[in-house]
Amino acid sequence: MTNQIRCAVLGLGRLGYFHAKHLMSEVQGAQLTAVCDPMRGRAEEAAKEFGISKWSENPCELLEDDSIDAVIIVTPTSTHAEMIIKAAENGKHIFVEKPLTLSLAESKEVMKKIKETGVICQVGFMRRFDPAYADAKKRIDAGEIGKPIYYKGFTRDYGSPPAEFIKHSGGLFIDCSIHDYDIARYLMNAEVTSVSGHGRILKHPFMEECGDVDQALTYLEFDSGAAGDVEASRNSPYGHDIRAEIIGTTGAILVGTLRNRHVTVLTEAGSSYDIIPDFQTRFKDAYRLELEHFAACVQKGETPIVTEVDAAINLEIGIAATDSFRTGKPVKLTKGSSYAGI
Ligand SMILES: NC(=O)c1ccc[n+]([C@@H]2O[C@H](COP(=O)([O-])OP(=O)(O)OC[C@H]3O[C@@H](n4cnc5c(N)ncnc54)[C@H](O)[C@@H]3O)[C@@H](O)[C@H]2O)c1
Repeated sequence: MTNQIRCAVLGLGRLGYFHAKHLMSEVQGAQLTAVCDPMRGRAEEAAKEFGISKWSENPCELLEDDSIDAVIIVTPTSTHAEMIIKAAENGKHIFVEKPLTLSLAESKEVMKKIKETGVICQVGFMRRFDPAYADAKKRIDAGEIGKPIYYKGFTRDYGSPPAEFIKHSGGLFIDCSIHDYDIARYLMNAEVTSVSGHGRILKHPFMEECGDVDQALTYLEFDSGAAGDVEASRNSPYGHDIRAEIIGTTGAILVGTLRNRHVTVLTEAGSSYDIIPDFQTRFKDAYRLELEHFAACVQKGETPIVTEVDAAINLEIGIAATDSFRTGKPVKLTKGSSYAGI
């Protein structure tokens, strides 16, 4: 293996193109070697833009290529299980976007394969690398707010991705709230034991034909005795709004802001500032830092701070929230970190 981890990005959509662009110039320890997307012309065009010679419309071609050390899987969620298994069988280290898979059966299969083949797997829960959330984590672990007893988080997307994305996403709890489930477990140092999910279509009628909602709320209970709630929305009319509050026994930490820049404009009409427009802007640093962490883990043969095991636990919470929303009853969870033994 060279000093730089040679990466192939599979899937060049909203996020894959962004990861590829990052790997071209900004990620220390990794380099973009190849790109893949089945959409005619997409990979070739991107390869030309990035100045690399290797591209394909067939992921299998790159998975079998010896000049590639690792794959960055940014394909639709419904394809993750197949991609991960093929990548592991070909000895490629894996960075895969969240959610890990769409079902627990697939997650278990994937975890088994990763364990058998010994490849490193990191999952794209980038909030753990965001400087604000990472600072909150340090302070909570240092005891600055006492014992964490309540987590409140919300993720309000500026509009919705298209129906084609929603259909393959697993639904709002699994696709979107899963970021809050992950960061809540991480910040609260606790596992979720009970989940109640609620949801409704408020703004996007096409959600009905996708079997999804555009507004959701999850109430969580943790094995530490703590509780929390998580809002997810595809309905923000003002920008991309991601914030969290962690209440402790002796203090609280608030994470996130609406402000895109530290500039406030004052006129006769009042004051205004730019709001963060999208997830690529909000988490630019986190997306770079998570890939640098992945490259460092591959170089040193170390386990990343967020693996397929965390991702399976997060998925189980998302599935429980979806089930609870459909049945109107809370769902108890007992497995938690027992996935580690798979
Ligand atoms: N971590 C985050 O904040 C975050 C944000 C957005 C999306 N995501 C995740 O990233 C993944 C992709 O999301 P997106 O919004 O970029 O989707 P997208 O629909 O914009 O892009 C997906 C791309 O994958 C390509 N593709 C489809 N099948 C493929 C295959 N077999 N091999 C290679 N490429 C294939 C498509 O042609 C498309 O270009 C999803 O799992 C999603 O949940 C994560």
